[in-house]
Amino acid sequence: MKKFILFLVLAISCSSFAYSQDKEMRKKDLLNVIKTRTSVRTFSKKVAEPKRYVDELLKAAMSAPSAMNKQPWEFLVITDKEMKMTLAKEFKNASYIENASFAIIVCGNMKAAIEGEGREFWVQDCSAATENILLAAHSLGLGAVWCGIYPDKDRTLKLQEFLALPEFIVPLNIIPI
Ligand SMILES: Cc1cc2nc3c(=O)[nH]c(=O)nc-3n(C[C@H](O)[C@H](O)[C@H](O)COP(=O)(O)O)c2cc1C
Repeated sequence: MKKFILFLVLAISCSSFAYSQDKEMRKKDLLNVIKTRTSVRTFSKKVAEPKRYVDELLKAAMSAPSAMNKQPWEFLVITDKEMKMTLAKEFKNASYIENASFAIIVCGNMKAAIEGEGREFWVQDCSAATENILLAAHSLGLGAVWCGIYPDKDRTLKLQEFLALPEFIVPLNIIPI
């Protein structure tokens, strides 16, 4: 009985040591991802199964915090080759999209945003979601870059028109991945 209790105590302390070590490792992994993320603008290889990655990236995006938990974001995923080529031509600051496997356009939904004075918090909410996408992409071994749209008026209106977006959907950026 004594032996059994001793074994049990040993097993519990070993597993809690392993757990705390594992936690420490995961913390380091996250810090490493944050510190090594960098903008990628040239894409050599295409992703074989974009959908698998898109799901993960969007889950990461939607895990971001948002003011009053409004989550005023919408995401457009562009995979169509012709669409990528036209976007690359029309938006010089995002021309890298041409060779990307796909792109995510992060938009603010003004119908979901806070009303009144806090309205502009949508930019911070969508920026947090964007950073999560960039970090998740890096952690999955993908390259990505934030190409700014809003608050540049010309770019914003042009992209809204190009994608036939309703007025209340405001594109914040294009992320070629
Ligand atoms: C709000 C914002 C807008 C950006 N817009 C563009 C852009 O239009 N085109 C581009 O190539 N990079 C763009 N970037 C990426 C920055 O140029 C890049 O993050 C910066 O040079 C730092 O490099 P790093 O991301 O490799 O650390 C943008 C970044 C932010 C945060």
